[in-house]
Amino acid sequence: MHKLNSVGILGTGAYVPEKVLTNQDLEKMVDTTDEWIVTRTGIRERRISGADEASSDLAFHASQRALEKAGIAPEDLDLIVIATVTPDMTFPSTANILQDKLGAKKAAAFDLAAACSGFLYGIATASQFIQNGLYRYALVIGVECLSKIVDWKDRNTCVLFGDGAGAAVLGPVEEGYGFLSFDLGSDGKGGELLKLPAGGSRLPATVDTIASGLHYISMSGGDVFKFAVRAMGNSAEAALEKAGMTKKDIDFMVPHQANIRIIDAAVKRLGLPKEKVIVNIDRYGNMSAASIPVALDEAVNKGSIRYGDNLVLVGFGGGLTWGATVLKWSLKEKE
Ligand code: UT7
Repeated sequence: MHKLNSVGILGTGAYVPEKVLTNQDLEKMVDTTDEWIVTRTGIRERRISGADEASSDLAFHASQRALEKAGIAPEDLDLIVIATVTPDMTFPSTANILQDKLGAKKAAAFDLAAACSGFLYGIATASQFIQNGLYRYALVIGVECLSKIVDWKDRNTCVLFGDGAGAAVLGPVEEGYGFLSFDLGSDGKGGELLKLPAGGSRLPATVDTIASGLHYISMSGGDVFKFAVRAMGNSAEAALEKAGMTKKDIDFMVPHQANIRIIDAAVKRLGLPKEKVIVNIDRYGNMSAASIPVALDEAVNKGSIRYGDNLVLVGFGGGLTWGATVLKWSLKEKE
């Protein structure tokens, strides 16, 4: 059997739309208050894509930044995986559209649907191709334009979500560095708790489905909350165990940013000090698949994450799905 490559992140990039929607703006749109949103979720503002901006546009900007950081040309990419629940259209995949925009001529390209856990599913999938030597460089993107599938009259959901994109270039790294373990899971029984009911083959788009608001996100918030705290703690612990580590070995945790109370509860369960947890939900809200890579990119740019640090990326979402990875950071700081 041939030796498996160590695979890690060679560069990250992020992009969020310019338009900021604050809690004060939302107070004028639905029956809510800044105080309710901040205390119940930790969100202060979120970004909203323009009418002419789709997921592939956000993904394009984030990808260019990640490729530049990695020093990899688009033509060198072997694979593009996009995790999203807001593709430009049902098909072609948003990854196909991005491949063309980037000029990544030799790359295979596909989308992957695992809701908010999508980036973790994406890196777990893409890294296998590199680990076994079939491919050398892969681009994985988590991107969402959730503002386009949110009912702006529903205060239960519209205050929570935002738009953005985060990208990572994956490739071979020094032995013993990069991804050390993955934990992925799903519980399809909970699919009803978080879904977009219409527009697929079960309920194709009709005048009636649109009039009934079935093309908007539908969520049972309290149930998802309970599941989330459990899933984040369990999945992070499972990934640590597979990597032969304990929570003491963690330098940083990058959790899915859905609600600060979910993050705090999971962190408490894991017994991690708060300084080790990367949080940006106050500025972006829940960007689903984009939230982990955007938070990771910000922490890398700030210089928080350093060569040899052990990171846990962990998330949960619709499906229901969850996932975690332990990653030993392989990029050396530039002098
Ligand atoms: O990425 C994965 C996707 N989603 C999630 O992770 C979401 C997980 N769930 C949550 O984050 C929380 O459950 C929510 C933030 C959605 C809700 O927080 P909660 O503490 O579970 O509140 P609740 O649903 O129990 O609602 C409490 C009250 C209700 O009023 P009544 O029935 O007690 O009179 C809601 O109608 O708060 C009301 N409410 C609001 N009030 C002001 C709900 N949304 C709002 C709002 N402004 N925006």
